[in-house]
Amino acid sequence: MDKFVVEGGVRLEGRVTAAGAKNAVLPMMAAALLADGPLRLERAPNLSDVRTMLAVLEGLGCEGRREEPSLDGGGGADGGPGALVLETKGEPGVVAPWEQVRKMRASVCVLGPLTARAHRAEVSLPGGCVFGVRPIDVHLRGLEALGAKVTIEGGYVKTEAPGGLVGAEVFLGTAFGPSVTGTMNVAMAATLAKGRTVIHGAACEPEVSDLCECLVAMGANIEGIGSPRLEIHGVERLHGATHRVLADRIEAGTYLVAGAITGGRVRVDDCRPGHLAALTERLREAGFGVERGEDWMEVFGEGFAQRARPTDVTTQPFPGFPTDLQAQWMALMCRADGVSLVTERIYPDRYMHLPELVRMGARIRRQEATAVVEGRERLSGAQVMASDLRASAALVLAGLVADGTTEIHRVYHIDRGYERIDERLRGLGAKVRREAGGE
Ligand code: EPU
Repeated sequence: MDKFVVEGGVRLEGRVTAAGAKNAVLPMMAAALLADGPLRLERAPNLSDVRTMLAVLEGLGCEGRREEPSLDGGGGADGGPGALVLETKGEPGVVAPWEQVRKMRASVCVLGPLTARAHRAEVSLPGGCVFGVRPIDVHLRGLEALGAKVTIEGGYVKTEAPGGLVGAEVFLGTAFGPSVTGTMNVAMAATLAKGRTVIHGAACEPEVSDLCECLVAMGANIEGIGSPRLEIHGVERLHGATHRVLADRIEAGTYLVAGAITGGRVRVDDCRPGHLAALTERLREAGFGVERGEDWMEVFGEGFAQRARPTDVTTQPFPGFPTDLQAQWMALMCRADGVSLVTERIYPDRYMHLPELVRMGARIRRQEATAVVEGRERLSGAQVMASDLRASAALVLAGLVADGTTEIHRVYHIDRGYERIDERLRGLGAKVRREAGGE
């Protein structure tokens, strides 16, 4: 297994181009099951999660290929891989097996499209994950409302809608806010349902809107995109289309925090600053400069010795502070000049990074869903274990400012959602190398 070896102490400086958003491209790939023609996704990032979704889709009879990088914006991050083209020829298969779904929860996004297109599906239940139970009751409730019979048998969700789905009014909220992939699954299903569907309590994350825009390009009829009320008028069929995947706000935010934590100057190009308003406000509160243009953002600090002002965050649904940047923010606060509170309202147990940061000398204690972070002037390099995608990113950030060498094991977690992060951080001056032979 690969590991990252990070030498701390370098002030980052330079520019990086945002990649396409993981959490937009994955459901969009599933949407290819709905279309009669090829779906061409520009700026599709080359991530292991994308390759996992491709394997799931290939198992369902949808073919995928990468186009050569092109000059017309087809490339991924920093001129990386070209567009991803997906095509389902004929009727799709209906079984997404456990072997594939267990690798990536987002595979559950095939449930809505399959039920809509093939009128039945058998998709393995994704199960829990390192940061909690993560149920999919909302997905199932939504499909049931559209007329599907839903059963759970042998670890699989089975849906059946022999006469096809029928539009309905559904509410998709949960105790922790709206469900992102739940909204996506039900919206995708509703595009081919007979009549009108209204989704109340829809998630407003930009990735949901980007998926809806992609579905509209494929011929879907969706009103209220970006709002908590989506109205979808079902159509007979969807066709192929070309869509440029939204810039990844979490990846962009991670590079901005990397700039801040080292007191450096990092600019992210080709991103959507409006999607990072909560992070921008918090970074300024923490004492960093942030400049923004229409499609770029830059963070700047006062040099490596700068310590952030202690600044609390509470994660919330969009446009609040994203849970997917909570771990990275905690890394920044580990070196702040005082005590800050990091409160997780979406996944109260999403704190796997906490003990690993403590191994690097951070002082953090947990009080239920809040972490109390007592900033310290120095962190020290250590051997640490990546446990999930964003937790791993936080460890890399902490490694950038720790004294000495940090070795981060199991970086396959980080490759799920960050395209060539080691290479791209090196482009900003960081001393990060990938080595085989970790734990
Ligand atoms: N929830 C339920 N029932 C459901 C669905 C969700 O109670 O049926 C609860 C969850 O347990 C959680 C809250 O609702 O407390 C929100 O979960 P949501 O369904 O929105 O999460 P998701 O769709 O499974 C997506 C992203 C996550 C991101 C969350 C929250 C994808 C593929 N994943 O997950 O991204 O953290 O939304 O914004 O879009 C990541 O990229 O690292 C990542 C984990």
